[in-house]
Amino acid sequence: MSLTEELFAYLESTHPRSLGGVREAREVAPERFDAMCELFLDWGAAASGDNFIPGAVDAFVDFSNDVLMEQARYERRGTYKRSTFAECEAEVYGKRDVMDHYLWGAYLTNFLWAHHVDIAIFFEDRFLRRVAKDAKIVEIAPGHGQFGIWALTQRPGTTLRGFDISPSSMVIANKMAAAAGVADRAVYERRDAMDLDQMEPDCADVVICSFLVEHLEQPHKLYETIGRLLKPGGVAFTTGALTAAHADHIFEFKRESELLHLAEDHGLRVLESLSIGPSRTLPRAKQLPRSMAMLLQRRKHDHW
Ligand SMILES: C[S@@+](CC[C@H](N)C(=O)[O-])C[C@H]1O[C@@H](n2cnc3c(N)ncnc32)[C@H](O)[C@@H]1O
Repeated sequence: MSLTEELFAYLESTHPRSLGGVREAREVAPERFDAMCELFLDWGAAASGDNFIPGAVDAFVDFSNDVLMEQARYERRGTYKRSTFAECEAEVYGKRDVMDHYLWGAYLTNFLWAHHVDIAIFFEDRFLRRVAKDAKIVEIAPGHGQFGIWALTQRPGTTLRGFDISPSSMVIANKMAAAAGVADRAVYERRDAMDLDQMEPDCADVVICSFLVEHLEQPHKLYETIGRLLKPGGVAFTTGALTAAHADHIFEFKRESELLHLAEDHGLRVLESLSIGPSRTLPRAKQLPRSMAMLLQRRKHDHW
């Protein structure tokens, strides 16, 4: 039985209410879904050992349910649950058991949520082709490491430095890089993204930063850093969440233009973008939660 078949069988037996959403994700692009699912499950199984499918699928279902619960609270109250990085670090990023479960859950959402399948395809088709064979990649907030590791496997001459605040990320991303056969080209360091402005400027050909911006008190500092780290002409893949609540989302973006402006205000040209939400929302929802991906380029000159 393939890992994908195992995943569907486990969902059917243990979490039947989550099965419809995952089938919907497969319908977005069945062949692409099957290829991604098998690849990512294979890395996960090699990284985490026995019993990967039940543990990771339970984490995915818990993550998805938490998102629904937080979105319902946000609809009622009009604000996200938390507003400071310190609270999130104390309650989420710094707690190994909480964060391990969270990161495996988040990992699976990147290919089992239908709208995230579109984002993964955007990454593979639109972004990866712009990554040079020997690019120096900086990944900010890699979490489980999926996006950067995917780039490393597709471009054998590239190297990556990854920076994340969470001790869990250091353990999981290193294991994932080993599982994908790229550990010799990936180095992860526990570091706050808000301190990366001290790194040498123009040191990266490529920056990857997925689903961090909504976790920050000062999102503009992140884009300032990306603009500073990238060489002129270098490219970045970034994603962010709009009107989408979660336990550790603290900055509420409402409009796509807010993310576009963050990039443009820091020397980055928006080459392409994709903003997409789930096909179903909560009954009587006022907000449409969206995930937005941007493909950016550091401007070479003053002109656009
Ligand atoms: C939602 S996860 C995203 C993981 C992965 N990039 C993805 O797209 O699935 C958010 C990540 O941001 C990290 N993070 C949050 N605040 C951070 C900060 N100030 N500096 C560095 N990493 C941070 C968390 O530890 C976590 O790994």
